[in-house]
Amino acid sequence: MARIIAGVASSHVPAIGAAIDNKQTEEPYWKRVFSGFDKSKEWMAKTRPDVAIVVYNDHASAFSVEIVPTFALGCAAEFPPADEGWGPRPVPVVKGHPELASHIAQSVILDEFDLTICNKMEVDHGLTVPMNLLFGSPKEWPCPVIPLAVNVVLYPPPTGHRCFMLGRAIRKAVESYPGDLNVVIFGTGGMSHQISGPRAGLINSKFDKAFLDNLTKDPKKLTRIPHLEYMREAGAEGIEMVMWLIMRGALDDEVDEVYRFYTVPASNTAVGHIILENRRRAAKKAKRVSPPKTKRAAHVARQFVRRSAS
Ligand SMILES: [Fe+2]
Repeated sequence: MARIIAGVASSHVPAIGAAIDNKQTEEPYWKRVFSGFDKSKEWMAKTRPDVAIVVYNDHASAFSVEIVPTFALGCAAEFPPADEGWGPRPVPVVKGHPELASHIAQSVILDEFDLTICNKMEVDHGLTVPMNLLFGSPKEWPCPVIPLAVNVVLYPPPTGHRCFMLGRAIRKAVESYPGDLNVVIFGTGGMSHQISGPRAGLINSKFDKAFLDNLTKDPKKLTRIPHLEYMREAGAEGIEMVMWLIMRGALDDEVDEVYRFYTVPASNTAVGHIILENRRRAAKKAKRVSPPKTKRAAHVARQFVRRSAS
């Protein structure tokens, strides 16, 4: 059986990609941002997922405004980096996992989520920047990736609740896949930012931090945030945060927050990042540790495993 073991959320600011590509990561402005992902890269290197599902939005790269699918699942064998106006980013071609992606498409569509199936698709900074932040800049990405593009650029985007429920359906799909795979799911975009209009440059750290808190402890509360509230509190582009709810919906109700990072700004955006692990994973880890030496230690370990598994 395949399983989702953890979720990662991260902003996907295009200027972060440009800083990597132009070798500016050691400059003080950017070091503040990149150093926040050092631990995340260590975590990812240890976690070594077999597949990553990356929920992101396309920024008029693969889809123009002529065709805007609400949810588009990448089922191809590979996804080249898109030319976003300055040539394609110098990152590896993203290799897909057509078998798992097709299985997810079948399961989720039969669960009444009307995905668009993409057998050919280029991917832009929305996907490649979080990949760099978590995997670094290798010659080849270390695992196959299933891209899930969500419309958050043309009104109406899906609601947070719909996104959360899609996450639930994706989890069910992954768990019914016959292969033995550990899957990590990414939610990308956000946090608060607005790139045009009179409120350009808006950042709302209070809203962002409460969102991060609730993402761990009370995600259902976040599913009730209407679009207007995202726009008002987090800026026009803050609506990207609904994509984080797909990631969260794919995890257990109770999760362990293993890492969080927040900094302001990168370009004109608040950068937020969180790593959540399913407790089943923690329970598995606990079982692997060597047997406790005293009766008391054995009792504590049993309680931990029981709590983790509940
Ligand atoms: Fe974006």
